[in-house]
Amino acid sequence: MINGSYNQSRPSSLMNEYASLLGGAVLRHRTHVAEHSARIEAELASRIKSEFIANMSHELRTPLNTIIGFSKLIAQQDHRSASRDEVIAHAHLIQDAAGHLLAVINDILDISKIQSGKFALNSREVFVDEFLEPCVHGLVLAAKDAKVTLTCSFDDTLSAILGDTVKLRQVFINLITNAIKFTPEGGTVTVTARPHVRGRVLISVRDSGVGMTEEEIQVAVTPFGQVDGGRNRWREGTGLGLPIARALVQLHGGDFEIKSEKGVGTEVIVSLPLIVEASKDQRSKAPVLVGQTAP
Ligand SMILES: Nc1ncnc2c1ncn2[C@@H]1O[C@H](COP(=O)(O)OP(=O)(O)OP(=O)(O)O)[C@@H](O)[C@H]1O
Ligand SMILES: [Mg+2]
Repeated sequence: MINGSYNQSRPSSLMNEYASLLGGAVLRHRTHVAEHSARIEAELASRIKSEFIANMSHELRTPLNTIIGFSKLIAQQDHRSASRDEVIAHAHLIQDAAGHLLAVINDILDISKIQSGKFALNSREVFVDEFLEPCVHGLVLAAKDAKVTLTCSFDDTLSAILGDTVKLRQVFINLITNAIKFTPEGGTVTVTARPHVRGRVLISVRDSGVGMTEEEIQVAVTPFGQVDGGRNRWREGTGLGLPIARALVQLHGGDFEIKSEKGVGTEVIVSLPLIVEASKDQRSKAPVLVGQTAP
């Protein structure tokens, strides 16, 4: 039994050898996986960068051309004898284009402040429907234009959260705008807010739109990333809305989750921590907005 006695006398050295072989294999596998995901990330970043340059120049040039073109028409009105209504219509187009340009610039500033960790919230106690309702009301017309049914339901027993109303509106305006924008005619968008067991409120924006694959969701949450960001793109935007929304939710101590199925629809779920002591009875303590009369 030479083999037997040999095995019995060196079991620990065999085990060591085996462990080191296994360790080496695991290490090589990990290095391979890390290299592979680094390569995929680099490819994704480079694709997003080229699409960003193409989209951004479109997003900046279109309103600038509108501003230049229509202000030129107004300046030449003596020669063209434009009517007063025509001049007013031109001024409105310039105003719209300038507003769009400002929104794009604000988004770029927001994302760079967020990325450098310099973004500050102006938080106060705020009830969920205080920031959610104006977002839904403000987008009713956009939904009507897109022939999409927009509905909302809020649990009105929800207590308050500590949040920056302006920034929370920015989050939900983007999410609801996306839901409307990426839902074909005849579809639905539903906004709900309900309490969650662990002292959090769950706000969901669900649509029956085009949906995204897992890979497309990764692109969508990357700054400037747009699914189908190429020249055939059928919807406008800069691709900053979702990453800003996610970062703002995280700055509020919240969670941000996207569930989506291609061709079926998308649901974005935001969970925010509630202030347990705050109840609807304390609502009168919330500051009254300037310009509004207290009831
Ligand atoms: N509800 C949705 N359904 C399907 N695709 C979506 C949805 N929301 C976002 N996406 C995809 O994710 C991309 C990124 O969204 P994001 O809001 O960041 O940018 P955007 O809407 O294109 O532009 P903007 O900066 O004006 O918001 C979109 O371009 C779209 O391809
Ligand atoms: Mg958007």
